[in-house]
Amino acid sequence: MELLIKQVRIVDSSQDFFGDVYIKDGIIEELGQNLTKDCEILNGKSKVLMPSFIDLHCHFREPGFTHKEDLETGSKAAVKGGYTVVNLMGNTKPVASNMDVINYVNNKAKAIGLIEVNQVATITDGLKGDNIEHLKNIDSSVKFISDDGLGVNNSRVMMEAMFYAKKQNLTVMSHAESKEFSNVDMRLAENMMTWRDVHLCEYTGCSLHMAHVSTKEAMQYIIEGKKKGLKLTCEVMPHHLALTEEESQYRVNPPIRKRDDVEFLIKAIQDGYVDAIATDHAPHTEEDKKNGAPGISGIETSFSVSYTKLVKDGHISLNKLSQLMSEKPAKIMGLNKGQLKIGYYADMVLVDLEKEFIVDSSKFESKGKNTPFQGKLVFGEILRTFKEGKEVYCK
Ligand code: DOR
Ligand code: ZN
Ligand code: ZN
Repeated sequence: MELLIKQVRIVDSSQDFFGDVYIKDGIIEELGQNLTKDCEILNGKSKVLMPSFIDLHCHFREPGFTHKEDLETGSKAAVKGGYTVVNLMGNTKPVASNMDVINYVNNKAKAIGLIEVNQVATITDGLKGDNIEHLKNIDSSVKFISDDGLGVNNSRVMMEAMFYAKKQNLTVMSHAESKEFSNVDMRLAENMMTWRDVHLCEYTGCSLHMAHVSTKEAMQYIIEGKKKGLKLTCEVMPHHLALTEEESQYRVNPPIRKRDDVEFLIKAIQDGYVDAIATDHAPHTEEDKKNGAPGISGIETSFSVSYTKLVKDGHISLNKLSQLMSEKPAKIMGLNKGQLKIGYYADMVLVDLEKEFIVDSSKFESKGKNTPFQGKLVFGEILRTFKEGKEVYCK
């Protein structure tokens, strides 16, 4: 398998130049000017080639909730959004607390073949919040544990899980929401648990990744932890950057925050404290949304929304966006992906940055049409997505 992409703008976290890319057997073999090869050629003129995106935080709902999404529709949605790797949360049915569920998801996704799927294991058995005995039966193919969707309310249980994670080289992903405050104040709920988890990270020495950081205070606690040199990373979501509570109260967890928070998150990105933009792709049926289910079907709009809000509006460079959506997530997941460098996997996306379009969820590949961006004008369209050199999406 060989492919030569010619006269394209090549952008990743550390480069931005016009040239050619030659891919062989799924790997980036050569980058340069005026390459000539006797193979399939793609003209990239006036387009941009970037590493495809890596989603640290995603929900595909299989097994158990396949009426909302399944591995096939999720995979199709992912490649349409320019993603070739997703980290799937464990709030499925059954919950991903054992290797049967985890292997089922990973193997089925592999058979579908569009993207690389990494199923996360739950921190507590069955997401019940009290027991971590099941972790003994989770094998070393698993890299992350998370009780996303709920959070671990018992601090002692979280501490034990972090000690275990450190011993087993697992990264703990925290959905920070102190349940006793959820019905009182969702800001307090996020802030309290973020503060706790940063301290537990320091105490236990584990690798901690804070999911969907949305408040100024939570980000401040993370910045303090990072300044102390903790093994602490964090992600923010496109909807928490592009929307404010003043203009949208779309139901998502954590909620859309105030303008002040949004400005602080963007400043934290600029200052280098944010590791990744992840989607928290959370597809729901129309009926479930009507009944109050929190979540946004976000994987197909993530790049365009982020590009429009962050790069078009002049807050960060395209290199920085590539770092947040590809390079850093790849590093956190331990993958040889996320950059356009010789020897790296040819996971790439061809985009038209000039193209502006209106978000139309009826055209989503995802079963979830739940988006606050319906009807919004955005820039940056995904034209093609390649996984290990193979085209997995073409507009
Ligand atoms: O909005 C959300 N939706 N937040 C979560 O934490 C869970 C997710 C879901 O699974 O629907
Ligand atoms: Zn969550
Ligand atoms: Zn989530």
